[in-house]
Amino acid sequence: MSALLLTGISELVTNDPRCGDGSALGLLSDAAAVIEGDRIAWVGEATAAPAADEVRDLGGRAVVPGFVDSHSHLVFDGDRSAEFAARMSGTPYDGGGIATTVAATRAAADDRLRALIGARIQEMRAQGTTTVEIKSGYGLTVADEARALRLAGEFSPETTFLGAHVVPAGIAREEYVRLLCGPMLAECAPLARWIDVFCEPASRHAFDAEESRAVLEAGRRAGLELRVHGNQLGHGPGVQLAVELAAASVDHCTYLSASDIEALAGSDTVATLLPGVEFATRSPYPDGRALLDAGVRVAIATDCNPGTCYSSSMPLMIALAVREMKLTPAEALWAATAGGAMALRRADIGVIAPGNKADLCVLQAPSYLHLAYRPGVPIATAL
Ligand code: NIG
Ligand code: FE
Repeated sequence: MSALLLTGISELVTNDPRCGDGSALGLLSDAAAVIEGDRIAWVGEATAAPAADEVRDLGGRAVVPGFVDSHSHLVFDGDRSAEFAARMSGTPYDGGGIATTVAATRAAADDRLRALIGARIQEMRAQGTTTVEIKSGYGLTVADEARALRLAGEFSPETTFLGAHVVPAGIAREEYVRLLCGPMLAECAPLARWIDVFCEPASRHAFDAEESRAVLEAGRRAGLELRVHGNQLGHGPGVQLAVELAAASVDHCTYLSASDIEALAGSDTVATLLPGVEFATRSPYPDGRALLDAGVRVAIATDCNPGTCYSSSMPLMIALAVREMKLTPAEALWAATAGGAMALRRADIGVIAPGNKADLCVLQAPSYLHLAYRPGVPIATAL
């Protein structure tokens, strides 16, 4: 296998505290890395770099782990920009607009959806993202949910069954929960790694604690691992349920009580913050600082979807987390890389270390600090 040596790295963020300065980011200055195939083979100071078949000089740029976007809804067609405009004039978000996307997505041919997902993933890579989790949830029939997962699986191994997004029109709530836990799960479980539920009693479209528990427990019995959309629109049971069921992650966490934070701190469940959602729904940002100070494991993701955040930009999410959630630039970068990997229970990404996937993001800047310092400027690209 031929080896590629990357040199001229002004600053390498490894996320390996055994490396470099010993901080959580494991920062190395004047660094180099060797890649063999799709894996990292060596990381260290440029002066100690081994010989390689090919050398590429990055000319003084910073390199960070590829972003791990652990929450997205990329399988959709249709446009909801008018809903966004109405929201900016005061109409609150309640999940009702999901029905618009469900209709447009059901009507789209496979090839059209495939092209849309592919273009969105290209857009993400162009901004430094190397791993993306993709949810279903705009099909809401057995055939349409299975189709969404089949298409998502063509692009990522991190596929999530979100039949429990909202109760679709034309079916009673109890009947839909039975469908979800029975035939729909049976068809979708082999196509997904994860199961997710929009647990939000504050929305008449989403699911309460009891319904969410039934869906998640059925998913676990079918071999799926758990994630939860929780506490997005108001205080509620999502966080506590996710912790109780040892879900890998509870996402949004916009409204958190002291006991929610305490429960998260005493658990392995990651709190995934989605600052683009607060931005695009004009909601209050959660206190990320309080989560970190309590010892909660925190990730940052885009939630890229047509309703609450149509942005694919992890650098924007980092900048918002720093500015609005009081994370330091180092904490925000860690949460967008190693934190995302933790939320997906992946040990082979998020950390640049020998044996791990060679998922790298190159910055048109000398330091990772520029991610938050230069918001909106396209400085990050996947290698
Ligand atoms: O993560 N909250 C539920 N689902 C998405 C939004 C879906 C939509 O409005 O289309 C979210 O915010
Ligand atoms: Fe979401």
